[in-house]
Amino acid sequence: MNSGAHRSAPSLTPGESAGARMSVTERRWFQQLIRRETGIALGDAKHDLIASRISRRLRVLGMSSFSDYYALVADRDPERAELRELIDCITTNKTSFFRENHHFEFLRREVLPRVTERSSRRLRIWSAACSSGEEPYSIAITLQEALGQNANRHQILASDISAKVLREAELAVYDESQVSELSRRQLERGFLRGRGRWSGRYRVRPELRSLVKFARINLNESSWPIEPGVDLIFCRNALIYFDREAQDGMLRRFADLLSSDGYLFLGHSENLTWLADLYERVGQTVYRVRQGAAQSRRKPTDAGSLRGRPTEVRSRGTAPALPRRRIALGEMAANATPSEISTVLGSCVAACLYDPEARVGGMNHFLLPDGDAATQMPRRYGVHAMELLINEIMKQGGDRRRLVGKAFGGAHSPSLGDAGRRVAESNAAFVRRFLQVEGIPLLAERLGGEQPLEVRFETHSGRARVRALARAAFLEPPPTSSTAAPRGEGDVTLF
Ligand SMILES: C[S@@+](CC[C@H](N)C(=O)[O-])C[C@H]1O[C@@H](n2cnc3c(N)ncnc32)[C@H](O)[C@@H]1O
Repeated sequence: MNSGAHRSAPSLTPGESAGARMSVTERRWFQQLIRRETGIALGDAKHDLIASRISRRLRVLGMSSFSDYYALVADRDPERAELRELIDCITTNKTSFFRENHHFEFLRREVLPRVTERSSRRLRIWSAACSSGEEPYSIAITLQEALGQNANRHQILASDISAKVLREAELAVYDESQVSELSRRQLERGFLRGRGRWSGRYRVRPELRSLVKFARINLNESSWPIEPGVDLIFCRNALIYFDREAQDGMLRRFADLLSSDGYLFLGHSENLTWLADLYERVGQTVYRVRQGAAQSRRKPTDAGSLRGRPTEVRSRGTAPALPRRRIALGEMAANATPSEISTVLGSCVAACLYDPEARVGGMNHFLLPDGDAATQMPRRYGVHAMELLINEIMKQGGDRRRLVGKAFGGAHSPSLGDAGRRVAESNAAFVRRFLQVEGIPLLAERLGGEQPLEVRFETHSGRARVRALARAAFLEPPPTSSTAAPRGEGDVTLF
């Protein structure tokens, strides 16, 4: 895959800063990509920070152009490995043991005494942006101090979007400076002291580590692999990085997950004043879902609710399925709510268009006939197919000026001879040219070749998953109606 949309920027000259070298256009590409993937809204004032953090990756990869790096992440990263590296270097992971200690006091004072009274209760606690582990281990230490041996009845799920900090959290080794705020007793009961080459380092004891399970969860995804009935959610000092829309979606989904007497803990500079009809404040940045608010937890237009919309299928133990629609030749679909549109392509092409700000996306599937170039008939047909899709996206709240695109298909079947090759090639050329003329950046393409493709496009994230099919599989008629097939591998319920 390649992109013709990204021009190379000049490389860094001695003494020049990364911030100065990254153009405003390049910064916008990264801002949009990061916002779309993580929910993190990096303002324009963060130009130098964005440039300097991303230049770390350029150095590691021996690259000198931000444009080339963007093309790599956006277009040539099917496994999304480099995207994870980018996320690792862009996230802010500052944390410490017993940070905002009043929350742990609240746990000790308000929550745990009730648990010990009703001994059958098993707490499910989620540390939803756990960074390098200090937060979930502080919770584990608090449980152990209050409940002794009984602490191990309870479960802590610790998650973060950054794979790097999760590795550190699971290792659970900390420097002297990181444990300096702990009491001597906490250090002795909770940690093993390193010797030899580990001297000056401390590892959380196995009995505390066993209380915590780690997983990579992106809070910006429309569904999380978590069953409702969570007792405590710690989501501290992460929401501040998201814009209001992303915060709103996450906070409503937290409300869906919390048990009727559960608590939500936010960071010191975070609040949810605009959700006062959903949450009530019961302590310093501690909240509960208001009684009777359950019915209004979700915005009526949101899809992906754990409580389910008619098109969604959810069974215990599986993540909620996205509403799906399979389109056939001549069709198109667009959606402003989370959904997946899929199709199977041979010599036909599909354009996926997406407005990252409105989070509206859609896909078409068309085939230009092998017509007379002089009459422009095939081109007119293609323009019509593209305009239908763009209009539908605009109807759903998208803005034509913000659209980005991906294009797939145009495969040639050897059995169709020269005419077949001509059709496939002109279809691929048309979609590239149309996007270029319209100024719609082509972020990724898989056009040409000989293999049919299955394309699955997420309308709310702009993500496209592409699978090459054997020719025989392609000959089988694709299902045409909406299906709620199980989600792909990796979607497991964690606790
Ligand atoms: C400043 S740390 C807060 C750590 C801890 N909760 C505390 O208060 O000490 C913010 C964390 O949020 C994580 N984060 C950012 N965006 C995220 C997302 N979309 N999903 C999950 N975690 C995210 C970052 O990787 C980072 O580790």
